[in-house]
Amino acid sequence: MEKVALGSSQIQVTRIALGTWNMGGQAGWGPESEAAAVAVIRHALDRGCNLLDSARGYGRGKSEEVIGKAVEGRRDEVVIATKMMHCKPEEVAPNIDASLECLRTDYVDLYICHWPVPSLPLEPFFEEMARQREAGKIRAIGVSNFNLEQMRIALNYGVVSLQPPLSILWRIPDDLLAFCREQNVAVTPYSPLAQGLLTGRYTRHKATTRGGPRDHNLLFSADVLPHSLEVASLVDRIADRLGTTSSQTALAWLLQTPGVTSVMMGASSTSQWDQNIGALDVTLTQDDYQQLDEAGRGVWNRLGPDETMWGWKPT
Ligand SMILES: NC(=O)c1ccc[n+]([C@@H]2O[C@H](COP(=O)([O-])OP(=O)(O)OC[C@H]3O[C@@H](n4cnc5c(N)ncnc54)[C@H](OP(=O)(O)O)[C@@H]3O)[C@@H](O)[C@H]2O)c1
Repeated sequence: MEKVALGSSQIQVTRIALGTWNMGGQAGWGPESEAAAVAVIRHALDRGCNLLDSARGYGRGKSEEVIGKAVEGRRDEVVIATKMMHCKPEEVAPNIDASLECLRTDYVDLYICHWPVPSLPLEPFFEEMARQREAGKIRAIGVSNFNLEQMRIALNYGVVSLQPPLSILWRIPDDLLAFCREQNVAVTPYSPLAQGLLTGRYTRHKATTRGGPRDHNLLFSADVLPHSLEVASLVDRIADRLGTTSSQTALAWLLQTPGVTSVMMGASSTSQWDQNIGALDVTLTQDDYQQLDEAGRGVWNRLGPDETMWGWKPT
C-alpha cells in the first residue's frame, strides 16, 4: 500500500488507516468480540495498512488494549496514533503513561489533542506535549477538531497533523484545509463513511438500525436524514456506473480531495476492510467528484457553522 509523509514529520503512513473507535466495546456497533477486533486489526496490517488510530476515550482504554494485543510482536511495522481529551498540561504525562500501558509499548508515534477546550489556553498544554516528545514518549504531536485560529497556535509547537471530521457529507472550512496544505500539516479525516451512511446500507439495504454513536449523529437526525440519504443515493448511482461499491466511491472522493493525507476508516469485519480498501484503485472523474462535492456541501450547509457531529464539544 502506498505510503506518504505524515505532514512535516519523518513518519510514513498508508493512505487508508484503521480507526478503532468501534473497538471500544460500545453496544450496537463494531466487531462482535474482542477476538474479532484483534482479527480485523491483524488483517488490516497483513493487507499493508500501517496506521492505527485510537484514543483514551474509546472505551476508556479498551480500544488501546485491543491494539496492544493485536500488534504484539510487530510493533515496528505499525504507526500508532492515540489521543487525550482535555488540554490540561498536568494531565498529559499520566494520560500518555496510561496509553503506553494499554498499548503495551514504550512510545506513541502520533499523540493527538482530541478536542481543544475553549476555556483553557493551548500554549502550556503544547509546552508539556513538546517535553514528552523530547523525552521520547511520543514521536510527533497532532491535533483533532481544531479550527484555523487554534491551528495557528498549534503550528508554533511543531504539530504535524490535523484530524478533522471530513466526508462527502461533513465538511471543514476551505480556508482550514488550504492552511494545512500550505503549512505541510497532514489532514487525516475521521468518520469518512459518515458512520455507515455512505456505504449503501441505509439506501440499498434499507437498514434502519443504527447503534453506537450513530444514535446521536446529526446526519442521522430526523431533519437531516432525508437529505443525507439523497446524497447517499447519489453515491450509490455513481458507484453503480463505475462498477465500484458505495463505500469505495465515498472513500475515493476523500482520497482525491487535495490536502488529504490518510483517511481514518472504521471497519467492523475483515470483509468491510477488504471492500473499503478497494477505494485505492478507484478514480473519480472531475465531473463525478464535483457532483458529490456540491451535493454533500448542500447537506453540510444546512447545519449551523459551529455544529459538531454528535452535538457535543468541550466548553
Ligand atoms: N478525532 C475525533 O474526534 C474522532 C471522531 C470520530 C472518529 N474518529 C476516528 O475515525 C475513525 C472512523 O470513524 P467512524 O468509525 O466514526 O466512522 P466511519 O469510518 O465513517 O464508519 C465506520 C462504520 O461504518 C460501517 N461500515 C464500514 N464499512 C462498511 C461497509 N463496507 N458496509 C457497511 N457498513 C460499513 C461500520 O459500522 P458497523 O460497526 O455498524 O458495522 C463501521 O463501524 C474512528 O474509528 C476513529 O479512529 C475520530
